[in-house]
Amino acid sequence: MGYSVAVVGATGNVGREMLGVLAERAFPAADVVALASRRSQGVEVSCGERTLKVKALEHFDFAGVDICLMSAGSAVSREWSPKIAGAGAVVIDNSSCWRYDADVPLIVPEVNADAAAGFRKRGIIANPNCSTAQLVVALKPLHDRAKIRRVVVATYQSVSGAGKEAMDELFSQTKSVFQIDEIVPKKFPKRIAFNVIPQIDAFMEDGYTREEWKMLVETKKILDPKIKLVATCVRVPVFIGHSEAVNIEFENPITAEEAREVLRNAPGCIVIDKREPGGYVTPYESTGEDATYISRIREDATVENGLALWIVSDNLRKGAALNAIQIAECLVNRKLITAKRKAA
Ligand SMILES: NC(=O)c1ccc[n+]([C@@H]2O[C@H](COP(=O)([O-])OP(=O)(O)OC[C@H]3O[C@@H](n4cnc5c(N)ncnc54)[C@H](OP(=O)(O)O)[C@@H]3O)[C@@H](O)[C@H]2O)c1
Repeated sequence: MGYSVAVVGATGNVGREMLGVLAERAFPAADVVALASRRSQGVEVSCGERTLKVKALEHFDFAGVDICLMSAGSAVSREWSPKIAGAGAVVIDNSSCWRYDADVPLIVPEVNADAAAGFRKRGIIANPNCSTAQLVVALKPLHDRAKIRRVVVATYQSVSGAGKEAMDELFSQTKSVFQIDEIVPKKFPKRIAFNVIPQIDAFMEDGYTREEWKMLVETKKILDPKIKLVATCVRVPVFIGHSEAVNIEFENPITAEEAREVLRNAPGCIVIDKREPGGYVTPYESTGEDATYISRIREDATVENGLALWIVSDNLRKGAALNAIQIAECLVNRKLITAKRKAA
């Protein structure tokens, strides 16, 4: 038996990665359809060995679809997810449109897979923000061990997190620097080439940005509403891979060595922490990988029961496409869905 899978936003950064991950992980798909805007109708995209011709979302009938992986932004999701769910498909959405609705589960399978069953209320499951996904994968085992009270995180987020046009902007601005051409920021509020920008998403009334707010609210929803968190989210001139410098205060004592051991045995985590030049992971090395890498684990003597660490992951994979497909696998493995069409 195979599932009928639709990928909406199949020409985008995340959508293309989703098609790749479906093939790599041999997801039990009887068929995969690639959808995007009318602009991309007929464009070819790869799904493993297969080449798919992109169809236009607006003309597509979802009646036969079991799982719809949505990755086309909030506006498209707001309009289409309820219609697609109404046609009987489970929508796994990458945008922030549904994440904060109490009756829509927000899932990182290593952390709260059990909540996935809640998809039945709306037919929608939300995928978290890329920075939250990798953070909670590392926080969960530490929370289980020593109970987290407060987290202070500074992010170093790659341009791919802002879509394919943002990657083009870093590339073209970098070229312009070498050619001594004028640089006019379009996608980012300031020049991103050879620079860092302490703003991701819009400002809120309290001075934090929405990206910072998302990390707080999503960590509470996925992991534990009692955890306090403050974030500073920064865009850096890296193509793929988000990094995070994290300080954690625990209720109970935990040494750096204990944390290293806990994280070594935790699902989705790989510890690379050699305390020598190069003995840590950088975003460049995380590209194309599934793991959340944890390095620079050390005790923070400025607070009681404190740790400092460095977390890196491929934002297009664990931060988006991989996590979405792990959610779909969770639905299949736990028999929460059945294929509408039985294989011949
Ligand atoms: N990048 C990340 O790390 C990351 C992580 C977590 C979540 N997300 C979320 O995932 C979503 C996609 O991000 P992305 O980085 O892949 O963006 P992207 O590279 O800009 O791709 C956007 C995709 O959406 C499609 N699209 C736009 N308008 C459409 C419409 N009216 N109807 C149908 N398809 C439409 C585009 O199709 P055309 O090519 O035809 O325009 C394209 O396939 C966003 O909601 C983003 O917030 C991204």
